Amino acid sequence: KIVPVIMAGGKGTRLWPLSRSAAPKQFLQFLGDHSLFQKTLQRVSDPRRYTPAVVVTNAEFRFMVAEQARALEAPLSSILLEPIARNTAPALAAAAFAVQREYGDDAIMQVLASDHEIDAGDHYFDCIRIARETARAGKLVTFGIRPTEPATGYGYIETGADLATGAKTVARFVEKPNRERAEELLASGRYLWNSGMFMLPVGRFLAEILRYAPAVHEAALRAFQDRKHDLDFDRLDEAAFSQAPDISVDYAVFENTADAAVVPSSFSWSDLGSWDSVWAIGEKDKQGNVVGENASVSNTRNSLVLSRDIHLAVHGLEDVAVIASEDAVYVGHLKDSQDVGKIVKKLAMSA
Ligand code: GDD
Ligand code: MG
Repeated sequence: KIVPVIMAGGKGTRLWPLSRSAAPKQFLQFLGDHSLFQKTLQRVSDPRRYTPAVVVTNAEFRFMVAEQARALEAPLSSILLEPIARNTAPALAAAAFAVQREYGDDAIMQVLASDHEIDAGDHYFDCIRIARETARAGKLVTFGIRPTEPATGYGYIETGADLATGAKTVARFVEKPNRERAEELLASGRYLWNSGMFMLPVGRFLAEILRYAPAVHEAALRAFQDRKHDLDFDRLDEAAFSQAPDISVDYAVFENTADAAVVPSSFSWSDLGSWDSVWAIGEKDKQGNVVGENASVSNTRNSLVLSRDIHLAVHGLEDVAVIASEDAVYVGHLKDSQDVGKIVKKLAMSA
């Protein structure tokens, strides 16, 4: 069986001001009855395919994780808590030690982001099966989505030779290129987007972490060994985990490893990472606007207008995001959506 590892520790700052550090996007119900985190749990709920999931998250979010899992009656294998945010490489390294301890070196773990909207139909599970076979053969497997625009918020994967399982080798991995580079990569026709989901043989993954990010390996190993069990949670040791560099798994491992593979995938996938992607999947009126409750538009086109509870009216604008929460408002061009996280960082520093 596959061991699901769900990464649920991101702060989702690019979806400010609806996504807040106390309640980030993966735990919000944007569209529909369940949060993105809950929808992720549902995708790995079939006990014929999966063991109970390992969730790795920031200690701040522990009660949201526990409650949202309980609401679905989803059994969890463990909830690993990071005392401090160090991005996905240290989080996944610690999770891999937990999986290795429980299921052995040959276990295959499926890493899932908790901010994706995915159509988990037959084709999706075909891709999962191919990925599992490819991981069994020792590869670190990514899922490649056909790119539709020169997005700068994703990793780009150049596909290489065919593998026997139906996957391909990764010739090159480029994380978050700038706009110019993204345009080149898109135009070349040889690149797929990294979906942010991975299928990894645990022992091989830890070996690559050790090789390319030894400081991450050391800090995560010590933090895991010195963990404290507390109620339903496993708390990673703070002194050890703080020593880990702040780096994502894409930069730490996938830009470096020679053993990555990619399953070209065409299931419907969307990273609800920024306002332009929320606009892209939202239901539009005749003028191309996505308008939430408490909001209204006039003489406005191709815009996203959302408000949590105050009244919001937008008049005479185009291609903008106007987002209001109870205590903050964001107004910006949809095309600049990737910058929202930087603005929030500045706000936090000046506050
Ligand atoms: N546990 C934990 N700890 N989880 C984290 C942390 C952390 O410090 N930081 C982020 N996460 C979680 C987020 O909640 C999300 O579910 C997932 O890890 C990915 O983090 P993002 O911050 O959303 O990454 P990204 O979208 O910028 O980039 C990644 O995903 C893209 C596709 O969605 C990369 O893998 C890209 O290459 C990829 O294209
Ligand atoms: Mg994301």
